[in-house]
Amino acid sequence: MKKRILTGDRPTGKLHLGHYVGSLRNRVKLQYDYDTFLIIADVQALTTNWEHPERLAQDVHDVATDYLAAGIDPEAATIFIQSMVPAIAELTIFYSMFVPVNVLRHNPTIKTEAKQKGYSELMYGFLGYPISQAADITFCKAHLVPVGKDQAPHLELTRKIVRRFNELYGEVLVEPEGMYEKLLVGLDGNAKMSKSLDNAIYLADPPEEVIRKVNKAVTDPARIHKSDPGHPHVCTVFKYHSEFNEQFVPELERACKKGEIGCVECKTRLATRLNEMLDPIRERRTYYEARQDLVDDILQAGTARAVEIGEKTLAEVKDAMKCNYFARESVRSG
Ligand code: TRP
Repeated sequence: MKKRILTGDRPTGKLHLGHYVGSLRNRVKLQYDYDTFLIIADVQALTTNWEHPERLAQDVHDVATDYLAAGIDPEAATIFIQSMVPAIAELTIFYSMFVPVNVLRHNPTIKTEAKQKGYSELMYGFLGYPISQAADITFCKAHLVPVGKDQAPHLELTRKIVRRFNELYGEVLVEPEGMYEKLLVGLDGNAKMSKSLDNAIYLADPPEEVIRKVNKAVTDPARIHKSDPGHPHVCTVFKYHSEFNEQFVPELERACKKGEIGCVECKTRLATRLNEMLDPIRERRTYYEARQDLVDDILQAGTARAVEIGEKTLAEVKDAMKCNYFARESVRSG
């Protein structure tokens, strides 16, 4: 039996290179070694977008198409929609009985997001979404959760919930391990590439757009003329070469420091490399965009599998919590 991976995204827009480096690339690599579950967390998206449910349908399809374009193989991985798996909602309620409100209020990711959004009061669903995320991860008894570093507080809470549950009610849940990927800097040099900071290259960007964005990227501010010695380690474009164009890095570092290669050429080489990398992704996107019914089928089949597995875990959880009134035999011993 293969071990399970569960990870996923909120459908709040198209995925970018930050998602690619942060987790998508890794999922594609691991999808044949693990039984991989990818959750499109639409309920979680509503914790910040509750006023705009009209965007959900498009956003869910965009994320699914991005996964498939990035190389997720629907024969290997299970892509599913969070709100369509009732067990996730039910597990959330059961777990919420023993998670103190203060633990949620002190969650650093919740705090950062609340600040970014300028929330003056916290909605119950937003404050509690880390509990729901624990349900996302445990409904299929995932062993491994590959995510960006910003998700660490949520994974730590999940691990705590699992330990507490098992201690209170018996060994039912599996404690997952985190696998943390790095963050990709934004084109503006900001520590994180993100849609809300408007500093992202999207997987769906056409080649000209990639060239345009790379040309605007922040470089070494001390370097004005091509012959000025550059400082690659403060340069955003150098960081991207290190991530996406490793074999060029030693030569680039030497030439930049000596003022032998200018920023214009360096950027051209990066844009070319990124477009090379994105080309197969574009090809698969074209394929799936022309077959939206196929994408629907993939989502429905994935969700059906998730529903079935969720029912099983939920029955075990209810049984352990003694919410099982008419069965003569427990589902676990029977
Ligand atoms: N919180 C994640 C994000 O914002 C998305 C997510 C929802 C998730 N449920 C998950 C990630 C379960 C990993 C596992 O990107």
